[in-house]
Amino acid sequence: MNQDDLFKKISSHAKEYGFIFPSSEIYDGLAAVYDYGQNGVELKNNIRHYWWKAMVQMHENIVGLDTAIFMHPTTWKASGHVDAFNDPLIDNKDSKKRYRADVLLEDYAEKQLQKAEKEIQKAAKRFGESFDAQMFRETNPRVKKYLAEAEETLKRMAGHLEKGELDEVKQLIEEKGIADPVSGSKNWTDVRQFNLMFGTQMGSVAEGGSQLYLRPETAQGIFVNFLNVQKTGRMKIPFGIAQTGKAFRNEIVARQFIFRMREFEQMEMQFFVRPGEEMKWYGYWKEQRLKWHLALGLDDSLYRYHDHEKLAHYANAAADIEFRFPFGFKELEGIHSRTDFDLKRHEEYSGKKLQFFDPEINESYVPYVVETSVGLDRLFLSVLSGAYREEKLDDSSERVVLSIPPALAPVKVAVLPLLKKDGLPEIAREVMQGLELEYNCQYDEKDAIGRRYRRHDAIGTPLCVTVDHQTKEDRSVTLRDRDSMEQIRVPLEELEERVKKKVSFTELLLKLK
Ligand code: GAP
Repeated sequence: MNQDDLFKKISSHAKEYGFIFPSSEIYDGLAAVYDYGQNGVELKNNIRHYWWKAMVQMHENIVGLDTAIFMHPTTWKASGHVDAFNDPLIDNKDSKKRYRADVLLEDYAEKQLQKAEKEIQKAAKRFGESFDAQMFRETNPRVKKYLAEAEETLKRMAGHLEKGELDEVKQLIEEKGIADPVSGSKNWTDVRQFNLMFGTQMGSVAEGGSQLYLRPETAQGIFVNFLNVQKTGRMKIPFGIAQTGKAFRNEIVARQFIFRMREFEQMEMQFFVRPGEEMKWYGYWKEQRLKWHLALGLDDSLYRYHDHEKLAHYANAAADIEFRFPFGFKELEGIHSRTDFDLKRHEEYSGKKLQFFDPEINESYVPYVVETSVGLDRLFLSVLSGAYREEKLDDSSERVVLSIPPALAPVKVAVLPLLKKDGLPEIAREVMQGLELEYNCQYDEKDAIGRRYRRHDAIGTPLCVTVDHQTKEDRSVTLRDRDSMEQIRVPLEELEERVKKKVSFTELLLKLK
């Protein structure tokens, strides 16, 4: 299936099955703002829960925090967001569509990489088992040309953006012959910078209320509370502070469903370390975070690292974990070594000392910080797109199934009486009562059993329990597995243990040990 079609199917599936709705849809929606439906909120809560358990509960030296969305406006001066939280935008004069200039160039580079990959796959088919992909990559002129083109484009773009050479960025777009992806026109305006923060007002506007911003990242709430947490929690370096919460950005180009939103949720952790030890911890967190993603059990080839060529002025190392969305590999999570930039700036702007006295070396210092930052909504989209399958079955019927990692599934178990009579619903209710304290279960007695199975496949329910006449005789039920569709007979007293083995968070978290 064409990847565009696949993406459209995933988005409409998300709506049809109560995962995601456009915000205020009865008024035709609001661009790049979405609501989570009855199944979406469960999946989202479960992803957040997995992150929190793995980061906070499983690390003795990481604690949580929940800071306000509104912060003192000086925060954003100190962090650099007022002056430098900009995206380079460019308009197409014919289509009147607006784009991020860096995204146009990144997409162009990604296309070159895809062309190289296509050549490699073609050759692999042609040469069979004896094929050496690495050698081919290094020697085939066409592949080398595509790879060099991608690298050169990104390098030049990074250099120009770093120096603020917006004219050169435009020239690069023209030189590469990049056209408006919608209209095909190459008639571009100049590139301009656009600040992404949403502003608002506290107090009465008439009385000169103060200008506030909706936070564009949750990280600053952690930095300004560094000392509060360190002192009250008696934290010793190295230690981390984790937080999940909403962030807001006035994104210029907000397409691609929940990939780039104007209101979204982040899950961030700042890890405070001794200066000079940051690269060790940067390596540690880079590895840990990929392991966390891979433990979900979606295909490993969907993930890759992307080390940054262009470093933000405050960072001395940065990498993304990218995910292969239907529209290509894109950033899912960032791991940044942020040096002592943020704490030093807050010291400077607040006039307060933000230091740690390290008894081991008998010295006070401003700690260095390694940050892990992942978008919850983007993670949601990665799970949804990695889990979506259309399958042709042996009886030539078709099914759509969401193979969501079981611990994250919105509904863990569907309890289904085969018929609405003969005492079967009563037993099914009993089964529900045994499971519902621990797991989100759904009782469903409407329609033929096959249709009920399909309904639960479509929302990713890992297990269906069917109560039938035999249950009345021997207290056994049918347990159906979502992915294999295998059905086995299980005594009721074994049910809870089997459900636990399949869907509990413990099983998922054990993979991180
Ligand atoms: N504190 C660092 C920071 O905010 P970032 O790379 O700008 O870094 C971190 O954002 C993560 O937040 C990204 O990797 C992405 O998953 C998510 N994110 C950023 N902007 C987003 C948006 N407009 N919509 C959805 N998720 C977004």
